[in-house]
Amino acid sequence: MPTTALTAIGTLVTNDPALGDGPLGVRHDAAVVFEDATVVWVGDSADAPAADTGVDLGGRALLPGFVESHSHLVFAGDRAEEFAARMAGRPYGAGGIRTTIAATRAATDDELAANVRRLLDESVRAGSTTVECKSGYGQTVEDELRSVRIAGRFTDEVTLLAAHVPPPEYAGRADEYVTMVVEEMIPRCAPHARWIDVFCEQGAFDREQAHAVLSAGIAHGLVPRVHGNQLHQGPGVRLAVELGAASVDHVVHVEQADIDALAGSDTVATLLPGADFSTRNSYPGARALLDAGVTVALGADCNPGTSYTTSLPFCIALAVREMRMTPDEAVWAATAGGARALRRTDVGALTPGARADAVALDAPSYLHLAYRPGVPLISQVWRGGALVHPN
Ligand code: NIG
Ligand code: FE
Repeated sequence: MPTTALTAIGTLVTNDPALGDGPLGVRHDAAVVFEDATVVWVGDSADAPAADTGVDLGGRALLPGFVESHSHLVFAGDRAEEFAARMAGRPYGAGGIRTTIAATRAATDDELAANVRRLLDESVRAGSTTVECKSGYGQTVEDELRSVRIAGRFTDEVTLLAAHVPPPEYAGRADEYVTMVVEEMIPRCAPHARWIDVFCEQGAFDREQAHAVLSAGIAHGLVPRVHGNQLHQGPGVRLAVELGAASVDHVVHVEQADIDALAGSDTVATLLPGADFSTRNSYPGARALLDAGVTVALGADCNPGTSYTTSLPFCIALAVREMRMTPDEAVWAATAGGARALRRTDVGALTPGARADAVALDAPSYLHLAYRPGVPLISQVWRGGALVHPN
């Protein structure tokens, strides 16, 4: 099988403390060898074994590919005018989702697939090598079914966001919508998804409705994840913990009992600062979560309403500047943290046996991701051992 040696790595992030310094397992003057799609060797550049292909990184930093554990890519249209109005003072509300539901229902399968492809290509150029993708802009059985099927053409990490917001034909009848989701939508869509998600929020779904949706998903073999505590304090975090969710995402408006519940659980808190940036929301209290021992992931939450970015480097910069995460914590959260949120052990680290997903920076250290915000630092991206950017 073909081997590739990446040598002269200025700073290498392995995310394995046994391979280097600190939680990031940092090494200098390092090399990594891929065999086909797998990492087979990590060590000093001077000791690198011979390989079929050699890539001299000339002192650049190398990191595990970013693991994007939260995105909404199956949609049509955009909401640039809603964004402009928001910047002029109009508050964000869950109802804006209905604009995208209408556009998505009107789009063809080919148009939706092209949108996913476009945004995934953008994600790769930003360094993401694993991307979760949610449905949620159909909110009929047929539109959710085609959304998860389209997502499944591009990723194994498909999430059925069955209950995003009650669609217009169910206005004032959220309970009836939930009954339809439980009895018809989940049984039809579950074979095409790995995860079940719900937006537990004022103006979307309450605790009881969210519980019903997640429980039905679990009964059909899906693993829960929750949009919770984004816009208001609410029951999402504790519901996620109670049901053993892989993650609860947003986690902005929380109280101490939420933090305590997360700290005593396996549920990852996935923080999405791009959404808080674009909605002028508060940023999550990352320090309180981390200091309590909660596992934190960072996601970009690409969607046309609250966070139309695919850039985890941008989110890392926000997490460091606005949420007081250290650069090391932010880089870990966007790589190993995302992998934890997706319950994946094959991605998020550059260790022997891991998938050969890596990002080289036009910079000597991962610190530059936060230190040089807005600068296109991603120079090369390998996924499964193949160079996918530039290509
Ligand atoms: O993650 N919070 C709910 N869902 C998306 C927003 C969707 C939209 O506004 O279109 C989010 O922020
Ligand atoms: Fe989201």
